[in-house]
Amino acid sequence: MTQPNLIPESKLPTLGTTIFTQMSALATQHNAINLSQGFPDFSGPAYLQERLAFHVSQGANQYAPMIGVLPLREAIVDKTAARYDHRPDVNSDVTVTSGATEALYAAITALVRTGDEVICFDPSYDSYAPAVELAGGVLKRIALQPPGFRVDWAAFRHLLSEKTRLVILNTPHNPSATVWQRSDFDALWQAIAAQEIYVLSDEVYEHICFDARGHASVLAHADLRQRAVAVSSFGKTFHMTGWKVGYCIAPAAISAEIRKVHQYLTFSVNTPAQLALADMLRAEPEHYRQLPAFYQARRDRLTQALANSRFSVLPCEGTYFLLVDYSAISDLDDVSFCQWMTREAGVATIPLSVFCAEPFPHKLIRLCFAKQEATLDAAAERLCQL
Ligand SMILES: Cc1ncc(COP(=O)(O)O)c(C=O)c1O
Repeated sequence: MTQPNLIPESKLPTLGTTIFTQMSALATQHNAINLSQGFPDFSGPAYLQERLAFHVSQGANQYAPMIGVLPLREAIVDKTAARYDHRPDVNSDVTVTSGATEALYAAITALVRTGDEVICFDPSYDSYAPAVELAGGVLKRIALQPPGFRVDWAAFRHLLSEKTRLVILNTPHNPSATVWQRSDFDALWQAIAAQEIYVLSDEVYEHICFDARGHASVLAHADLRQRAVAVSSFGKTFHMTGWKVGYCIAPAAISAEIRKVHQYLTFSVNTPAQLALADMLRAEPEHYRQLPAFYQARRDRLTQALANSRFSVLPCEGTYFLLVDYSAISDLDDVSFCQWMTREAGVATIPLSVFCAEPFPHKLIRLCFAKQEATLDAAAERLCQL
C-alpha cells in the first residue's frame, strides 16, 4: 500500500514566522533591549490581579456564558455610553472574545463570503489579511503615505465595487500612531452609505489617544454604527496582553452572525478574568481615564531623549508606538536596518514595510514605548550613539 503524502497543501502558503517573533528571538540572541513587540514590560493594576485570585478562590472556574459574563457586559455598556454617547444592548450587541484577535477573526469570517472584496489601509495590522484569505475574500489595500498616513478618499471611492463587502480600519493606528478624526468617519459614511458594506473598526488602543478631542470611535457615528463592528482589547487597556480578553460591539443582527463563529471558535472566554475585569472597570475607571497621560509621559520621555540622536521622530497621536526615520543614519532597507541595529546597537525594533503588501521604500521603524522608564532611557542612550 502506498503511503499518503501527509504534508497538507497550505491554505496560507505565503505566511511564515511573523517579524514580531523573529525580532524578539534576535533580541534574545543578542541580549538587546526589546522595543519590537507591542507589550508592556511592567505589570497591570494590583487590584485587577487581586480580583482574579479572588474569583478563582471563590470557585468561578467553569465555563462562562458564550457571549460573556453579565457584569462585564454591563460594565462595557456603561463605559461605551459614557464615552461614545451610544448605549449598546447588553444582551444582543456585546460579545466578549478571546482578545481582539478572536473578535477580528470571527467578524471577518461571519461577514466575508467567497469572492467578496474587503478594503483595508496599509500599513495594516497583520491578522486581517490571513482571516480575509481563509474566508475566501479578496483584500484591496490602500497605501497610506508618511508622515500623515491620511486616507485619500478619492482613491478609496475608486476602489469600491459591487463586490465590496467590508472595510477594515484601525484607530488609533498601529503602526503609524495616527488617529482618525470625525471627518474621516463622515467621509467613509458618504462613500459607502448607498451599498451593503460593513465596517470593522479595530479600536484596541481606544484609551491610548493623545488627541485633545479624544478618540473618535465608529460607535460615536450614529449612521456608521448601524453597520459597524467595534473591537477593543483589555490587554492594551490594563497592561495585561497575556490575559487575551477583548470584546466586540455590533448591532444585534451582525452580532448574531459573529456569535455563530465565536461559539465554535472558542465558545467562551476565561471566567475569572472576565469577572476581575468587570470589578476593575467599576472600581477603578480612573485607570483608563488616566491612560493617555500615563503613556504620553513615556512618549515624551523617549522623544526628548532621541532629540540628541540622528533619528527623526514622527508625530504620535495615539497607541504606544513611536515611528522614527533613520535615513540620516543608514541606506539599508528597513528589515536589514532593524536586524543590524539589534546586533550592533542592542536595540530591537520593527520595520514598517512588514505591515504593507506593496513595497514601502521609506526608512521608518517602529519603537514600542510601553516600557519602564529605565528601559526607555537605556534604549535611547544606545540609539543616540548611532
Ligand atoms: C491593531 C491591533 N489589533 C489587534 C490586536 C490584538 O489584540 P489582542 O491581543 O487583544 O488579541 C493588536 C495587538 O497588538 C493590535 O495592535
